Amino acid sequence: MIANYFPGHMAKTKREIIENLKLIDVVVEVLDARIPISSHNPDLDNIIKNKKRIVLLNKSDLAQENDTKKWVDYYKKNNVTAVIVDANSGKGIDLSIKAIKDIMKEKLEQEAAKGKIGKSIRIMIIGIPNVGKSSYINRATKKISAKVGNKPGVTVQKQWIKLDKQIEMLDTPGVLWPKFQNDEIALNLAFTGTIKDDVIERTEVVYELLKKLSTAYKQDLIDRYNLNESDINNNIAELMELIGQKRGALVSGGKVDLEKTARIILEDFRTGKLGRITLEKVK
Ligand code: G4P
Repeated sequence: MIANYFPGHMAKTKREIIENLKLIDVVVEVLDARIPISSHNPDLDNIIKNKKRIVLLNKSDLAQENDTKKWVDYYKKNNVTAVIVDANSGKGIDLSIKAIKDIMKEKLEQEAAKGKIGKSIRIMIIGIPNVGKSSYINRATKKISAKVGNKPGVTVQKQWIKLDKQIEMLDTPGVLWPKFQNDEIALNLAFTGTIKDDVIERTEVVYELLKKLSTAYKQDLIDRYNLNESDINNNIAELMELIGQKRGALVSGGKVDLEKTARIILEDFRTGKLGRITLEKVK
């Protein structure tokens, strides 16, 4: 069911991205720092080919700081600049702008040597839904927000927003649909909310989330739900019941409302109340 979640839009948006890319110097790919692999669409590499690319590890406020740093090193080893960003607070926006300039420095110098001075850098934000593309655009443009180019109402033209003296950004991000290459990726996208909750079996998703967290983030569960060490064992169904009881998610008769419990746990995970959690680590 999940695999067929996004069919209709895919081809059209991909075509649009390819069309827009002709105008672009640097592609800025937004990833979710908690799931850098699952939030990367592998098609992107084919689509952008040899274009310059930088990666933004967004939602870094929700990920483990150490793990995010390891991801930055990982990308560096693969010759990709990655910048740690929290688009909600604005952290990392300036660094990302600097990274865009740095990656273009050599090319601009070469062009300047040929007499083409003062050329601007044109960028496009790309990523799967829910990684924070719009939040990044809003944050980055709040600093300056000078629209360049066309008049209101003329929607066929591209809108460029000046980020600073040198950088112009296409105002609409390129949306790529996630790839559900295996269950683990689909689950990660369900945990983080990229796959909307109305198409998932929430209790099953949370069961899988608890299974993951009960090994790698045991202490966070204990702290958040006031549990004992011994409550966290292989019996995930019991653990979910217990959390429901602790949080008062009950139906009449005192039975645990598992659907409500699942909502609570998902919300806690997504808002960071369960702690900073990186689901995909550098191997
Ligand atoms: P998109 O354009 O890539 O689809 O993503 P968008 O910016 O709409 O962000 C998706 C959700 O992620 C939003 O939450 C947004 O606030 C949140 N978000 C974006 N960047 C960050 C970040 O760096 N840290 C954290 N913690 N959250 C981030 P929402 O609940 O859907 O909307 P809202 O209630 O915040 O408005």
